Order: sequence, then structure tokens, then C-alpha cells
Amino acid sequence: MSLDRILAAHRSRRIFRPEPLPDGMTERLVLEAQRAPSDATGQMYSFVRICDRELRERAAALSGDQRHVAEAAEFLVVCADINRLARVLEHRGQKPGRFPATGLHFALVDATLAAQRLIDAAEALGLGTVCIGGILNGIEELVEMLALPAGVLPLFGLCIGWPGEEPVERPRVAMTSVLHTDRYRQQAAEAIENDLRVMAPTTRSRDWGRVLARYFAAGGIMEQREAALRRVLERQGFAW
Ligand SMILES: Cc1cc2nc3c(=O)[nH]c(=O)nc-3n(C[C@H](O)[C@H](O)[C@H](O)COP(=O)(O)O)c2cc1C
Repeated sequence: MSLDRILAAHRSRRIFRPEPLPDGMTERLVLEAQRAPSDATGQMYSFVRICDRELRERAAALSGDQRHVAEAAEFLVVCADINRLARVLEHRGQKPGRFPATGLHFALVDATLAAQRLIDAAEALGLGTVCIGGILNGIEELVEMLALPAGVLPLFGLCIGWPGEEPVERPRVAMTSVLHTDRYRQQAAEAIENDLRVMAPTTRSRDWGRVLARYFAAGGIMEQREAALRRVLERQGFAW
């Protein structure tokens, strides 16, 4: 399949057939992810693959009971990782620096670029994927469960498996809403209205604004996640 057809066919999949991936396919996807660009060649990320059935069920429960987390052939926890670099420095007798904000910044970018490449490679092979931000609902338990050392921060989960559904394409806001020229421009009311209209079909209520409010308004899901994430940032050495 040509690259533009692979990219155009992207949809998140949440229903998976029970078949496993052939031997070596997950490793092949991770090798593909590793080709992603990386700041200062640091490769500041790790994937924690959850194979154990009991751990997988716990990960699904911690993510707000998302069944696709339990049912996908593979589930990876995508982590920012500045621990591995520190080990290399210590191995060479050097003292690792203290750069929690900068480390978080670049590790997050590295991890996300690698994960997106893995998603593209998986979809090119006919696999389905979905990112799981729901891991933030149980992030403290997840850190404990996966024995993540300081310097390693779970960012999101990634389900990979053979798709058992063909979802419709989800729209995006207008290109002009995300592309700015020379200076950042606040959106005019008409542009906001247009985005609300374009995005309406993504929701059952046909009111995208309601979904945004549930997540991003005062008292919403994002605010509710703040306290636990801050504790984990502190515990994993990313607080400043
Ligand atoms: C960081 C991140 C977290 C996400 N978390 C979840 C999740 O917890 N559960 C889920 O079913 N989908 C999740 N998604 C998938 C989004 O809902 C999906 O990408 C979005 O609706 C656009 O749909 P599409 O990927 O099919 O184009 C997440 C996506 C991203 C990038």
C-alpha cells in the first residue's frame, strides 16, 4: 500500500479479533519505531509490553475498564525515559545532570514520535491500534505495577491487534485552525463555530463542545487527573 493510502486509512480501533500477532511482529514494529528522530540521539523512551494476563486485566481496569486494553493482542505502555541515559553516564563514571523539565519535554517528544511511527508501521501491516490516555486514571498503581524506576514516566498505552471493526473516519478541525503564519493568531468566533460544526459527527450527542467541556472545563476529567499525575511526576523525578 502506498504511504498516502496508509496514512489516509488511519482510524483508532477498539474492537480486536482474538488472534495473536505472528512471532516477531511486535519486535519488528518496535524496530520501526526506533527509526524515529530523537533529540541529541538520546532515545528517551521505553515501551513496556504487558503480556501477563493478570497484569493486562489490571491495566484495563486502571484505564477506566476499557475492554480493548485487555482484548488487544498487544498492549504497550509508552514511557518517557531519562533513566536509561543516566545509567550510561554512570557506567562511564559521569554524574547525570538534573534537568527534570527539559528531560520531560524531550522525552515526551521522543516517545511520541517513536510511538506514532510504530502506529503507522502497524497500520501498514493491516493492524489496528488505539492510544490509551485512560492510563492516567490509575497512573500511581501503574507505576507500581510495572516497577518503573525514577526517570521513567508512563505517557499513554497503545493497543495493537487485528481489527474487528472498520470505524468511520473521524473529522479534524479546519487546517487553518492549526496552521499559523509568522505569528500565532487567536481563532475568530466564526472559525470556532466552524470547528464545532465539523467535529460534531465525532460525538453521539453531535455536540463536540460538550465533549470538550467534559474533559477540559473547570472540574472536568483533566483537572481530576492533575493531583495523581503531579504526585507521579514528583515520585519519578520529573518535578521542578
Ligand atoms: C494521547 C491519546 C490518548 C487517547 N486515549 C484514548 C483512550 O483512553 N481510549 C480510547 O478509546 N481512545 C483514546 N484515544 C484515541 C482518540 O479517541 C482518537 O485518536 C480520536 O478520537 C481520533 O480518532 P481517530 O484516531 O480514529 O482518527 C487517545 C488518543 C491519544 C492520541
